[in-house]
Amino acid sequence: MSHTREEHLWIPESDLEGMSVDTLSVRAGQIRTGQLEHSDAIFPTSSFVYGSAAQAAARFGGEEAGNIYSRFTNPTVQAFEGRIAAMEGGEKAVATASGMAAILSTCMSLLKTGDHVVCSRGVFGTTNVLFQKYMARFGVETTFVGLTDMDEWQAAVRPETRMLFIETPSNPLCEVADVRALASLAHDNDALLVVDNCFCTPILQRPLDLGADLVIHSATKYLDGQGRCVGGVVVGPAKYLDEVYGFIRSAGPTMSPFNAWVFQKGLETLPIRMRAHCDNALELAKWLETQPSVEKVFYAGLESHPQHALAKQQQSGFGGMVSFALKGGREQAWQFIDGTRMISITANLGDVKTTITHPATTTHGRLAPEDKAKAGITENLIRLSVGIEAIDDLKTDLERGFQALED
Ligand SMILES: Cc1ncc(COP(=O)(O)O)c(C=O)c1O
Repeated sequence: MSHTREEHLWIPESDLEGMSVDTLSVRAGQIRTGQLEHSDAIFPTSSFVYGSAAQAAARFGGEEAGNIYSRFTNPTVQAFEGRIAAMEGGEKAVATASGMAAILSTCMSLLKTGDHVVCSRGVFGTTNVLFQKYMARFGVETTFVGLTDMDEWQAAVRPETRMLFIETPSNPLCEVADVRALASLAHDNDALLVVDNCFCTPILQRPLDLGADLVIHSATKYLDGQGRCVGGVVVGPAKYLDEVYGFIRSAGPTMSPFNAWVFQKGLETLPIRMRAHCDNALELAKWLETQPSVEKVFYAGLESHPQHALAKQQQSGFGGMVSFALKGGREQAWQFIDGTRMISITANLGDVKTTITHPATTTHGRLAPEDKAKAGITENLIRLSVGIEAIDDLKTDLERGFQALED
């Protein structure tokens, strides 16, 4: 059957079926207006109008589909949700105000008092605080275990365990979890496996294909890629996402239309950016390994990395995050950081601009000293989020860091 292009205010999902994530990142989820704009429209409106009181009632009552109010229905936000869901291979997505709001909304909608969570120790510091301090107040207890120690995971699971939560590769030590094995453990115990896929993005790893139940993103990172907005998203099957959606509708940690538009545009360049991040990061990791002042480099792309083979098997690239420990302690780490001139000293990651961070006093600074030690966040550790600048220029700037140590 022939059709005119004007009928296509969006590309039906069936027309994109089986297409690669590179294509989905550019094409999936766009909703065009009657103006037939080529780029995505933005709908900065808090509410929507109805043709009649009866239509308003039908919308509110759920008998008629359509927009109501931007806390829970906004076309720009839905366009972003549609695209990232397609890219992760998930049935649905719910966008949130931040990555932390995505984790909170997942917990609030799928856990209840008395439930137990097992979480990997090497997660982002604030995720740790959310579980340890805030979820605990509502009677949800969390046990922290080593990401790669299956015996520890098995020993931590209890009859009331409802969720296993991981980041892989982890922040900042780039440890890699066996997603398939953890999904089996979760499912054997009637629990969900939730994966924070922030470091890899769907370009390098699709946790739902590996058996995970839900994927979380801090969209603030690679999905935006240019450090403009804070946002998050949860992706997975409708049976869980409908609960998450119900929570954000009632509690309000919603993504703004403007941010959704920025992320939507960010997704379009994600595949090429991720390849550039991976190439630069691998080259820098190898180079750092040869530096006399470096004690250890943490990057799953290195053959010396303990989970190199696993990373190769479940990821299509090793990502842009490289951490390294200098010989010395905090003083040397700070000297090195202050010695660089171009690389940005900031805690954000996933940007096209390379950033440098001292995790022990910033991203993981709120952890108790014993938790920091268990998570391997030492004072001599430096984290690089490797951007897409020319590799030789990055080396030149890092050389300045090394020179600062020698002065
Ligand atoms: C791996 C990871 N997950 C989640 C978050 C939280 O995201 P947001 O800052 O968007 O709330 C971060 C933030 O740095 C992160 O690095």
